[in-house]
Amino acid sequence: MNPHFHYRDGRLFLEQVALDEIAGRFGTPCYVYSRTALTEAYQAFEQALSGTPHLVCYAVKANPNLAILNVFAKLGAGFDIVSGGELQRVLAAGGDAGKVVFSGVGKTADEMRRALDAGILCFNVESAPELLRLNEVAGSLGKIAPVSLRVNPDVDAKTHPYISTGLKQNKFGVAYEDALALYRQARDLPHLHIRGIDCHIGSQLTEVSPFAAAVGKVLQLVDALAAEGIALEHIDLGGGLGICYDDETPPAIADYVAALLSALNGRAEKLILEPGRVLVGNAGTLLTRVEYLKHGEEKNFVIVDAAMNDLMRPALYDAYHNIVPATQNDLPKMTCEIVGPVCETGDFLGHARELSIEPNALLAVLSAGAYGMSMASNYNTRPRAAEVMVDVDRVHLIREREKISDLFSGEHLLS
Ligand code: LLP
Repeated sequence: MNPHFHYRDGRLFLEQVALDEIAGRFGTPCYVYSRTALTEAYQAFEQALSGTPHLVCYAVKANPNLAILNVFAKLGAGFDIVSGGELQRVLAAGGDAGKVVFSGVGKTADEMRRALDAGILCFNVESAPELLRLNEVAGSLGKIAPVSLRVNPDVDAKTHPYISTGLKQNKFGVAYEDALALYRQARDLPHLHIRGIDCHIGSQLTEVSPFAAAVGKVLQLVDALAAEGIALEHIDLGGGLGICYDDETPPAIADYVAALLSALNGRAEKLILEPGRVLVGNAGTLLTRVEYLKHGEEKNFVIVDAAMNDLMRPALYDAYHNIVPATQNDLPKMTCEIVGPVCETGDFLGHARELSIEPNALLAVLSAGAYGMSMASNYNTRPRAAEVMVDVDRVHLIREREKISDLFSGEHLLS
């Protein structure tokens, strides 16, 4: 549990605010984030990188709420985006386009135009056809597009197969063997300017060795490029550092950065990182209230008002999130399944948890700040949750709970 979550007289607080008060005021399900925890995680990167030319680009997909983007923008962060929508959010939140890198395998011509107009720092190009399209789009606007090639270093990130991205069989990046030839092509295209190289090998990594292996492979390419007169301004090593959900022991941010710097061995190119989860994951929780206790033939079901549409990670990856009471009680503990109201067997938040549950209890699903709200859907016509940010003793509603009428406002009956 992030140290900013703590119990005081049996009540769970985030910073100086009791979570039951937030639930009372804004209802449930409700995501709550700590500004201090966000800031501390970001500052840990800045501190570890202080002697090195660098840019920390927050991976917007982890949690794109405008207030969160704004907190990072004010701290000087750049942003890693994967869509025109994320670019628009970054700009609306006061982010600097000149610090934006644009990743993703399927950038449309329209998204490229918008990013060129905004003046982003770099397109992280993932294939030969994308490179050609970018050259064409930039030419049609009379602009020069800054590019980096995302290389696939073919290293095993040792994480869940759905969030492993740096293996040969994954759709991401340019095959390592093809990278040199593609850089030569990029050099010869008139509307491109080669700025860097990038890789991202996966998410929720709990060891540094795969990162170090990827750096080694990237540096071999950087040297091969230099030998051909292609000098790079930056090396972007992506994101991927894991957090503790259960009993994992990922390296601290400082140790992860130290390992990268040691593998980079004093290179002069600017270092770009794209952390997502480690900046926001443990800064947030999902509050949910118990609706029913149902004693099935084999299991005790605790039916809560949050579901897989609010937090999809358990259903999608069988991910573990610790679930704790927001107000403690002395009732005996029981083994229970924490499930939501959605009509799917996969709709669970936790299996076989030992909890003492009283009717109407408020639970906090921890480590939910990353890939929680950002992957929420309206399945079963469920409005998406409210989001709140705590800042020491102040409470800000940073996203209103969706209204049911919002959900079908763009739909039309046959005329
Ligand atoms: N850069 C690129 C190019 C990425 O694809 C990603 C994440 C990141 C940076 C940030 O990675 P992070 O530091 O957050 O690990 N929905 C999954 C995670 C998907 C990650 C996708 N890419 C989950 O809930 O675990």
